[in-house]
Amino acid sequence: MRPDLEIGPPDDATATAVRTLAAAAAAADGVPPLSEQPLLNLRTDSADLTHAVVRVSDDVVGYAQIDRGTDPASAELVVHPDHRRRGLGTTLLRTAVRDARLPARSGAPGRRSGPLHVWAHGYVPAAQAFAATLGWEPVRDLRILERALPPADSDPQLPDGLRLRTARPDDDAAWLDLNSRAFADHPEQGRTTQADLDARRAEAWFREDGLRLLAPDDGGAPLGFIWTKVDPQNPSEGEIYVVGVDPGAQGCGLGRALTIAGLAQLAERGCTTAVLYVDGDNAAAVHTYAALGFDTRATDVQLAPSTTRE
Ligand SMILES: CC(C)(COP(=O)(O)OP(=O)(O)OC[C@H]1O[C@@H](n2cnc3c(N)ncnc32)[C@H](O)[C@@H]1OP(=O)(O)O)[C@@H](O)C(=O)NCCC(=O)NCCS
Repeated sequence: MRPDLEIGPPDDATATAVRTLAAAAAAADGVPPLSEQPLLNLRTDSADLTHAVVRVSDDVVGYAQIDRGTDPASAELVVHPDHRRRGLGTTLLRTAVRDARLPARSGAPGRRSGPLHVWAHGYVPAAQAFAATLGWEPVRDLRILERALPPADSDPQLPDGLRLRTARPDDDAAWLDLNSRAFADHPEQGRTTQADLDARRAEAWFREDGLRLLAPDDGGAPLGFIWTKVDPQNPSEGEIYVVGVDPGAQGCGLGRALTIAGLAQLAERGCTTAVLYVDGDNAAAVHTYAALGFDTRATDVQLAPSTTRE
């Protein structure tokens, strides 16, 4: 049966079939092929997203999502384990490369730098061989760190005059501003919008007290925040979801204090393991988390066309 390639936003049935495809690949490869944002994007359409679906008969057997709103443009792709080694991955990758050349509609003009980056979660052997054949190579690594809970030390020792409090909906503007400044150089986190925040609030894992601000007692603007996440489907594992510090207050130990506060909250919620994601080249964060007892569990990579091939 000949495969068909469709481009366009998925309807509900297609979105469900993509989630099922991702689950089948995760079971075969031991690591989910699509991360949180592309899964959320199956529900929230954006002008900068392209969805490419490969069907055989009516079954969804391959999927790629291309995001032209990130800098550089990024993509995630997956082929069903029963339909691999038939060229579908190559077709999806070529589709993504072509699509990524289109201009971003929502991003600032001219901010695009460099070629498309494709995520390979866990960088499993199939992805390594696929990348090598097509002449792509890792250009960024995102480490998944873990440590056991509870932490030996659960006192964050916050500086005088600052306190940690639950973020309220009327803090959204201040949080978005702080997040964009704390992650100004980060390709994804720094571009979080009100719509992204609202999408997370609608998720089953969201808890109001999971997002806390570190703010002056006198009510001034927050200097940092800690956001924890516990997936109800996997309650023994909690995530230090995002920790951010105002650039003007970095280097004073606030990131460490906020992470300790997050670990203590995850332990209180009954988690026995804490995980977090950190870019391999973020030396300050990697150092902070190593000092707090985190070890590397796995590494995701972003691939780009090998410069030796260009
Ligand atoms: C990586 C992935 C997308 C490849 O999909 P695919 O449809 O099997 O890829 P193709 O058939 O187009 O493979 C093209 C070439 O890559 C190489 N390749 C792909 N998978 C391979 C494997 N498991 N072992 C050895 N070589 C492999 C081969 O040279 C292959 O050509 P050939 O079959 O003629 O020898 C698929 O394995 C997958 O979905 N993995 C999990 C998700 C993932 O890692 N995504 C990130 C991709 S960068």
